[in-house]
Amino acid sequence: MTFIVGMVSQKGGVGKSTLARMMAREFVAGGLATKIADLDTQQQTCTNWAGRRAENDIEPEIQVQSFASVKSALEEAGRFDALLLDGKPNASDQTVEIAKASDLVVIPTGQTVDDLHPGVVLAHSLRKKGISPETIAFAMFKITGSERENAAAREYIAQAGYMVLDGEISVSTAYGSASDQGKAITETSFRTLNERASKLAQSVIDRIAELQERKVA
Ligand SMILES: Nc1ncnc2c1ncn2[C@@H]1O[C@H](COP(=O)(O)OP(=O)(O)OP(=O)(O)O)[C@@H](O)[C@H]1O
Ligand SMILES: [Mg+2]
Repeated sequence: MTFIVGMVSQKGGVGKSTLARMMAREFVAGGLATKIADLDTQQQTCTNWAGRRAENDIEPEIQVQSFASVKSALEEAGRFDALLLDGKPNASDQTVEIAKASDLVVIPTGQTVDDLHPGVVLAHSLRKKGISPETIAFAMFKITGSERENAAAREYIAQAGYMVLDGEISVSTAYGSASDQGKAITETSFRTLNERASKLAQSVIDRIAELQERKVA
């Protein structure tokens, strides 16, 4: 069975592609046949990143393919254990298609209300279109605030009826430069940063396992 994880957002630049690359790297390292479907045909962020990764001989190799539609991305999904759908910058019809195809939909968000509000609005709109709220999870990304601000942000999302994944990704030039070199954010030169990113990746994996158990039960 293929597990499909979709990365979506209302706002652009929140961390969808960074998250897709990290999860792909962790799945591959865990022995899963994985592919990123890069649905952002304009920017091709993940596709270009995979090129830099290959040029810099970074192992493990990560498969990324660009697709014009979710439908075509799903055609060969059965060949993989995990498929990551990396969406376009802003919410569109494609966002709903990604959410419908995904077993888990991840919405990355910063910790300010400016970021949280559009994320929650998007989650509500997906719910209205038939997506189960259980399959929606927020990831705290590019955060700059204190512990207290982060706790308040988590509370905001929980109050809105959605789960927030454990772990959070702070703003760091080391994360940016890892991406520049074709690395995932679990592969920076700093162990603490890698461990923090791993915590979020593990939380995604745990949530997938939880949802799969519920499906079987
Ligand atoms: N934790 C971080 N610290 C610093 N820079 C980051 C961090 N995470 C991501 N970035 C940078 O922020 C930018 C946006 O990230 P990313 O491309 O993952 O977001 P996105 O949601 O996919 O954007 P888009 O909506 O344009 O597709 C990139 O330049 C990325 O390298
Ligand atoms: Mg992107």
